[in-house]
Amino acid sequence: MILELLRSEGIDESLIRGVEAFRSDHPVDGSVSARVPVPRYPFYGKDAWEEALTALLCGENLLLVGPKATGKNVFAECLAAAFARPLWDVSLHVNADADSLVGADTFADGAVAFREGPVCRCARMGGFGVLDEINMAKNEAIAVLHATLDHRRAIDVPGYGRVQLDPATRFIATMNHGYAGTRELNEALASRFMVIAMPRISERNLSRLIAREFPSLRKKYADQFVALFLEIDSKCANSEVSTRSLDLRGLLSAIRLAERGLDAARALEIGIVNKSFDEFERSAIADVIAARVPRGRLFGE
Ligand SMILES: Nc1ncnc2c1ncn2[C@@H]1O[C@H](COP(=O)(O)OP(=O)(O)O)[C@@H](O)[C@H]1O
Ligand SMILES: [Mg+2]
Repeated sequence: MILELLRSEGIDESLIRGVEAFRSDHPVDGSVSARVPVPRYPFYGKDAWEEALTALLCGENLLLVGPKATGKNVFAECLAAAFARPLWDVSLHVNADADSLVGADTFADGAVAFREGPVCRCARMGGFGVLDEINMAKNEAIAVLHATLDHRRAIDVPGYGRVQLDPATRFIATMNHGYAGTRELNEALASRFMVIAMPRISERNLSRLIAREFPSLRKKYADQFVALFLEIDSKCANSEVSTRSLDLRGLLSAIRLAERGLDAARALEIGIVNKSFDEFERSAIADVIAARVPRGRLFGE
């Protein structure tokens, strides 16, 4: 299914052959085959696909940088699916420490035993490790990954030894960027990744996404939702409103609620408008919605 998506995106055939060769060179261990994702959403975006596939085939790690809801996690999942790799999701919040990433000694039944962390297991099993929101992690926690992410391809686990990465292992880090309060990633870490700037989804791809997600939504209304999103996007670009309500995740959820029968305007209020707490901004967004979103039946013949 995923290779068909690559073809429908117009990805170069030689890249697709490269991915197929990678798959047959690196069979997945049966104990972790359930971790190979079956993506819930396809990722649309030819340029990002080409950059990512090429970099991963060259053995590089990826950092996906972009605003919220640009499909960073969806893309990481699709990449693991394309290469048929088991995936480990590692959330890098402020309290993550080195032990929780690579593992640590624990007591079990009165004896000391090493409890392997997700990064270590991913490394041994040739997995794709998603280092989610990597910029939120403490530098001390992440320093343990420096040797993992560069040419050394190894993890030094205190009290356990040196673990060499399986040749199929790759890491895909994500970070939000583009609104006040986002933390920068330190330079040493950034230098260990190829950095893909995640674009906002294009008009054409948003139409494809909505049509696929909601096959019974009437075309003319689907077009209105696309136009609504683009209009909020341009208001953000002109600094008329903040990016709070530019939330594709919220838009898709609102359409889902409308499909369930909730009035579309109310669904958009709780999916989009209420994410902003500024009175002026809320009314600006509500106006855009009122002008675009019809009353009545949106779904069906
Ligand atoms: N280019 C894209 N292709 C497919 N889906 C996308 C794209 N951009 C955003 N989305 C949709 O936006 C939602 C959020 O995606 P997610 O990967 O969680 O975003 P992020 O991690 O960037 O915040 C999903 O429903 C996803 O399908
Ligand atoms: Mg995310």
